[in-house]
Amino acid sequence: MPASRPAPALLYGTAWKEDRTATLTELAIRAGFRGIDTANQRRHYFEAAVGAGLAAVYRTGVVTRDALFLQTKFTYRGGQDHRLPYDPSADLATQVAQSIASSLEHLGTDYLDSYVLHGPASGRAWSDADAAVWAAMTRARDLGQTRRIGVSNVSLRHLAGLVASGVELPAFVQNRCFAELGWDRDIRAFCADRHIVYQGFSLLTANPEVLQHPRVRDIATRERATPAQVVFRFAVAVGMLPLTGTSDPEHMAQDLASHALKLTADEVRAIESLCG
Ligand SMILES: NC(=O)c1ccc[n+]([C@@H]2O[C@H](COP(=O)([O-])OP(=O)(O)OC[C@H]3O[C@@H](n4cnc5c(N)ncnc54)[C@H](OP(=O)(O)O)[C@@H]3O)[C@@H](O)[C@H]2O)c1
Repeated sequence: MPASRPAPALLYGTAWKEDRTATLTELAIRAGFRGIDTANQRRHYFEAAVGAGLAAVYRTGVVTRDALFLQTKFTYRGGQDHRLPYDPSADLATQVAQSIASSLEHLGTDYLDSYVLHGPASGRAWSDADAAVWAAMTRARDLGQTRRIGVSNVSLRHLAGLVASGVELPAFVQNRCFAELGWDRDIRAFCADRHIVYQGFSLLTANPEVLQHPRVRDIATRERATPAQVVFRFAVAVGMLPLTGTSDPEHMAQDLASHALKLTADEVRAIESLCG
């Protein structure tokens, strides 16, 4: 397995694309994305089709595997439909082993860059089940099946429970990011203190009021950009690794080009506390 390298500045998300998954994955990589997020959860993702898209770009020589950051997830039975990537009667360690083996096969690779627990077993706290899954994910990392491990859809309480259990901390936290919560301010601070990379999703869909806000629209006009681009640029400026799942080639190009926008420190601070 090649040495660990940093994640790209923006991840392309493959949820909800069904029959368009392979084509859109290929299009995203051709557009310039180098980070791909998926999950072995057929209900919302088509991981095997992501693998087909990857195979297409490798075939045409656009990129090689080692130029990409590939991230997928382990999803508990409760978040799945009937199309399971593991035997639901097996213990959790076996389910993780089966799910990651299936992901590697779907994605046509022998290692992942990041493997994420899609969501804790309970909304309330970090549980024994989560501890068992985390131990299995850590083993997968030690076996070289993934370079790093992460968690998603977590609260500070979940993270405190993980810390209290004395285990290795995640390399990534992936959360839905609401501007009204200061863009997940508390979790981002927790992550920043521990060198954990915070991945934000639903940056546009969770925050329509930001896209309409006069301050954001003024910045967009000045930068000859769209409010969506301002949001992605802001997210990077506060240290996030944003996800976009756009299906539109023009939006793919805009999302990637957002890094060139110039926001002042005052503007970043203003957007950070625009709604909460
Ligand atoms: N861990 C989890 O539980 C979880 C949950 C949800 C999502 N995710 C991940 O995050 C990824 C992104 O999901 P998301 O919830 O952020 O939603 P999304 O799928 O990225 O949808 C964003 C919406 O914004 C639009 N959009 C994107 N770029 C735009 C631009 N430059 N200008 C205007 N509109 C733009 C898209 O429309 P167009 O398609 O027309 O551009 C789409 O309607 C998913 O694919 C998945 O990988 C993870």
